[in-house]
Amino acid sequence: MASTRIQRVHAREVFDSRGRPTVEVEIACEGARPGRAIVPSGASTGAFEALELRDGDAGRLQGLGVRRAVELVNSEVRSALIGQDATDQQALDQLLIELDGTLNKSRLGANAILGASLAAVYATAEATGTRPVDQFRRAWLEHAPNRSAGQASAARGNSTTGPGGDSLLPLPMVNMISGGKHAGGNLDFQDYLILPVGATSYPQAFEWIVTVYQHVGQLLTRAGFEGVLVGDEGGFGPKLASNEQALDFVVAAIEAAGLRPGEDVGIGLDVASSHFHRDGIYRLIATGDEELSASDVVNLLEEWVNRYPIVSIEDGLDEDDWHGWKELTQRLGNRVQLIGDDLFVTNPERLQRGIDSGVANSVLIKLNQIGTLTETLRTLNLALQNGYWPVVSARSGETEDTTIADLVVATGAGQLKVGSVARSERLAKYNQLLRLSEGDEFGYLGGSIFQSLRSS
Ligand code: PGA
Ligand code: ZN
Repeated sequence: MASTRIQRVHAREVFDSRGRPTVEVEIACEGARPGRAIVPSGASTGAFEALELRDGDAGRLQGLGVRRAVELVNSEVRSALIGQDATDQQALDQLLIELDGTLNKSRLGANAILGASLAAVYATAEATGTRPVDQFRRAWLEHAPNRSAGQASAARGNSTTGPGGDSLLPLPMVNMISGGKHAGGNLDFQDYLILPVGATSYPQAFEWIVTVYQHVGQLLTRAGFEGVLVGDEGGFGPKLASNEQALDFVVAAIEAAGLRPGEDVGIGLDVASSHFHRDGIYRLIATGDEELSASDVVNLLEEWVNRYPIVSIEDGLDEDDWHGWKELTQRLGNRVQLIGDDLFVTNPERLQRGIDSGVANSVLIKLNQIGTLTETLRTLNLALQNGYWPVVSARSGETEDTTIADLVVATGAGQLKVGSVARSERLAKYNQLLRLSEGDEFGYLGGSIFQSLRSS
């Protein structure tokens, strides 16, 4: 067997699903083939995310190049990592954090740092002849030894099973219709998603999703709307008369697929409200120009939860509106999964603030918001320890990299948000999960995660 000592580190600029440059890092251990990771990139990024280093050179790729980040990996990061043990993820990540020396990874860039952090996992897999999912599991158990098999903690209520124990295939949360910053339509809210809560296996869940998605496209087309062209994450991007109309189409498509809205398939929203919030005002444009307060938004969401089978709402309020978030949590937190994305930015300190102040009950987990695997695992573990459900998530700018599919299974986080079932940067993850679903190696909690919320 090859050694796991790092021998070679090499970064290059490659391109993501929006045609924007991003960082790919390869790391090879002594005598082994290199492992590689590619870093994703967001569009509706949170203000509190770690910094994504871009060249800013207006003469090249509109300033979006990542040559500087690549150069930093090929110089400073390379020097720091060569000779280190690729399996010691915590030490490697600590080294990278110290080398950067800033609070938000702005010197080396979170893209440079995350590429190196993840490539070490793939290098170890190559050197030891194991799968990435095994290496993510190892990293998770080293980070959170209390979570070893058979010690799954109850997320809420009296349930004895919960996320974060054994490795699990995830319940997918999938875009049907896209709005906001991800599509050309007029919808204010970013994602209208479905969660196949009644499916009893990952392959069944995925088939239901694909079937509903096909019906959404057909129903939109038949009604004279755009039902073919898709947004950044593969959801349809029609110009509809209202935000509610998107929900109506999704419900109709669930029914057209022969499934029961609510029982079989629930609805999720990513409001992504930070992008239409300013100075305490939430401005909606789908039905004219409406100015809403935080309380108005909470009322609207509550009304929708009463009328539609909504089981999950992400970023219902702005990333800095802790007061509004508290109201939202008090009103809906015992009925609906309330996910903080821009609010928490996968940052343990921001999540801790949410836990301490009773805000939200779930956290989106995006590796590049915080910038190393170790810190991502820290946030995930903090969430699980406090009964907050983690939802591992892609970015709107993605690639063929399948890290999040392996990570969500390895940690048993329970839920995954990747975008829709069109566009191969999304399917790369779903197809990886289909591979992992063979042979019954991993369990599936699916929508039973939500039962504990309903009964609490
Ligand atoms: P982003 O969108 O990657 O553009 O930030 C994803 C999300 O908001 O969940
Ligand atoms: Zn979001």
